[in-house]
Amino acid sequence: MASNKKLLVLPGDGIGPEVMREVFRVVDWMDKRRAVTFDVSEDLVGGCAIDAHGIPVTDETVGQAMESDAVLLGAVGGPKWDNLDFSIKPERGLLRLRKDMELFANLRPAMVFDALAEASTLKTDLVAGLNIMIVRELTGGVYFGEPRGIEELPDGTRRGVNTQVYTTPEIIRVAKVAFELARKRDNRLCSVEKANVMESGVLWREEVTKLHGEEYSDVELSHMYADNCAMQLVRAPKQFDVIVTDNLFGDMLSDAAAMLTGSLGMLPSASLGDVDATGRRKALYEPVHGSAPDIASQDMANPLAMILSFSMCLRYSFDMGEEADLIETAVEKVLAGGLRTADIMQPGKAKVSTTVMGDALVRELDKLAA
Ligand code: IPM
Ligand code: MG
Repeated sequence: MASNKKLLVLPGDGIGPEVMREVFRVVDWMDKRRAVTFDVSEDLVGGCAIDAHGIPVTDETVGQAMESDAVLLGAVGGPKWDNLDFSIKPERGLLRLRKDMELFANLRPAMVFDALAEASTLKTDLVAGLNIMIVRELTGGVYFGEPRGIEELPDGTRRGVNTQVYTTPEIIRVAKVAFELARKRDNRLCSVEKANVMESGVLWREEVTKLHGEEYSDVELSHMYADNCAMQLVRAPKQFDVIVTDNLFGDMLSDAAAMLTGSLGMLPSASLGDVDATGRRKALYEPVHGSAPDIASQDMANPLAMILSFSMCLRYSFDMGEEADLIETAVEKVLAGGLRTADIMQPGKAKVSTTVMGDALVRELDKLAA
């Protein structure tokens, strides 16, 4: 039977390929146990693409990504490629995919698994049960704004420029995604900017407020300056349900939120585009963590963020909520059973490798499906 689930897998660099290997096992499991077949192809992005083609992502790969129902990405970058020209660094591959696929809404959940509440650097009662969703604008703002560059000045010094810029449609489309998500959760949205110092922040606040009045007045909306939000995230994180913010603030706040959970190695993300005429929505799923070159190829990395990214893919791209729940429950069970990769290791628990964590997860899936 032909599959309509076209999945492009881009393992990337560093620990990317080894955490992706564990996802392949879950994909196989779905195939065998749930009779769900994915049409999987694999390609290069990041440093490995630079080694093979001289650029961090080829036009062909971008083309394939556009035609896929979903893209799964591991991680990009590493010291080997650090000194390359900015325009061909591994990260540019990822940024180009986000931009060309118009993945403007980046969903970064920060949730604390019960078994890991004590792994947080914050007091357990502050984070136990935490479940927040950061919606980060991903294709605009200072990441892509023009003018940008480094220029020589007549006096021999230099000037570096980036531009923070947002338009009404860019703000509205990401805010809509956030309002819709809030409705499915605790119905609260906090919009974050720096309207006290930036015009783009003033516009952001005005547009979100207007949209709220017109279409989402049932959702409880609040506004917060980004610096205060950073503080509130470590002071009383459970006050938040959904946060919507721009590209740069979202980059920083989502790292802070991730650490509340005890490990960056646990957190997935989804990057979504608009729904097109055929009802399909371009999407890319990747863990929040990076390529961690220091532990690459040592079978040490935590594969759970990558596996949870696949679960988000099932939920948001393939409408397979039941299977996504199954994977999330399996993750909880494995953690409750005391297995830990090095990044989430706690006293009295069993330290295991990437592969052993994957074995345990597949075993839990078997049990849950039995
Ligand atoms: C992220 C990363 C990227 C970003 C880098 C790798 C370009 O930090 O996804 O949060 O800054 O967006
Ligand atoms: Mg980041």
